[in-house]
Amino acid sequence: MSKDKIFVFDTTLRDGEQVPGCQLNTIEKIEVAKALEELGVDVIEAGFPISSPGDFNSVVEISKAVTSPIICALTRAVKKDIEVAAEALKYAKRGRIHTGIGTSFYHIHHKLKTTEDDIIRRAVEAVIYARTFVEDVEFYAEDAGRSDNEFLAKVTEAVIKAGASVINIPDTTGYCLPGMFGEKIKFLMNNVPNIDKAILATHCHNDLGMATANTISGILNGARQVEVTLNGIGERAGNTSLEEVVMILESHKDLNLTTSIKPKKLMKTSRLVSTLMNMPIQPNKAIVGKNAFAHSSGIHQDGVIKNRENYEIIDPKDVGVKESEIILTARSGRAALKHRLDLIGYTVNGDLDDIYTRFLELADKKKQINDNDLEFLVYKGKGNGRSLKLDYLHVSTGTAPETMATVRLELNGEIKSATASGNGPVDASFNAVKSVVKKNIHLEEFLIQAITRGSNDVGKVHVQVKNAGNVYHGFSGSTNILTSSVEAYIDAIAKIK
Ligand code: KIV
Ligand code: ZN
Repeated sequence: MSKDKIFVFDTTLRDGEQVPGCQLNTIEKIEVAKALEELGVDVIEAGFPISSPGDFNSVVEISKAVTSPIICALTRAVKKDIEVAAEALKYAKRGRIHTGIGTSFYHIHHKLKTTEDDIIRRAVEAVIYARTFVEDVEFYAEDAGRSDNEFLAKVTEAVIKAGASVINIPDTTGYCLPGMFGEKIKFLMNNVPNIDKAILATHCHNDLGMATANTISGILNGARQVEVTLNGIGERAGNTSLEEVVMILESHKDLNLTTSIKPKKLMKTSRLVSTLMNMPIQPNKAIVGKNAFAHSSGIHQDGVIKNRENYEIIDPKDVGVKESEIILTARSGRAALKHRLDLIGYTVNGDLDDIYTRFLELADKKKQINDNDLEFLVYKGKGNGRSLKLDYLHVSTGTAPETMATVRLELNGEIKSATASGNGPVDASFNAVKSVVKKNIHLEEFLIQAITRGSNDVGKVHVQVKNAGNVYHGFSGSTNILTSSVEAYIDAIAKIK
């Protein structure tokens, strides 16, 4: 059975761009339009030309820059709007005028303060006028979600007769329940005599978080165009998100519905839109959120390691994400730790107890453990069994000229301590260590690696010491940079032969 095509009408550059703070200049709009073309959208709604010279210009430039998709311009059911839109579309290979008027009780009586008959008259006139400029005219029945279905059917029939080939049924206020919206589409499919001469489009807003569900319900009841935005951006709570609808259809092949979108380009396009529009994506956003393929609970991590499909319905590679992420936190189990260690090239032979215990200690201090932290955990483990270990460290420091440090070290199984002063906490601690080990040690290099993220990150220290003409290196890492400095120092000293 051949698949039914669902046309993807992207309105990121029109409904999405109406969001305060998301405005783009013409160059940026062209960049987004080209990315949408690569992504495979069928229609780009490029702007509302009468609304501003900037919008007009963007429609002109996008029409010149983009070849494959239809370029659409929005208008009210007003002659001047339609003329300006037609002018803006003059370079489009295939241009569409999207005109319309409110059809709900609120819009007819409280906004436009007119009658049902007048609405039909204005709708028909707008479509006929738009058809004098372009072949492709789409009509929107604003607030269709709250419009009376019988009246909506009358309007739909009239505008199809007037020459509209796509009828957009927007749930402008995001009011509908999925069942209600699906019924509305079904009602139009069954009660508009000339419906075979046009296609119905969904255009759902997300005020109650149901935009995607309503869109899918619309499709299941006969709509064949979806009006969507990347990342679901748009007025108030946003529009239906393109990536969600596309991946729902991809994931439910049994629906026999297809789009021309290339899902592998979803992540890249989503990031571009988010960056240019200054609109961060919520981490738990379906498909494109930072956590959409990240697993942090021990049970899920274990399941994903055994077989990705245990906890993932989409292969991240299919939407342009490199791989699923196993987030190492205090909730991670041994399986996740071992898996990550294997991936970064550390094979732990035998039992993981020691490194796992130290991993949990660190994870309690630091929310997330990254690969650098793991390397340090592995490396620190190698110091176990050495003749010299730090047992206790106390430093008193502040604005007073002298800093005092007390260290207690385990030296060849014996506990020894010393207190020393120094020029700052590190110097005082190193002096105390030296007076315990009683060796001639010259510090050649001391490096604390910059903290990468939060102030609770692991401070990584590298020291180089010289003894009897030989150079020894020591490393350590800890959320306490003083502790890691002393540990790195004694790590180097312990290697002295
Ligand atoms: O939400 C809406 O009703 C619209 C129309 C202008 C299509 O954006
Ligand atoms: Zn809208």
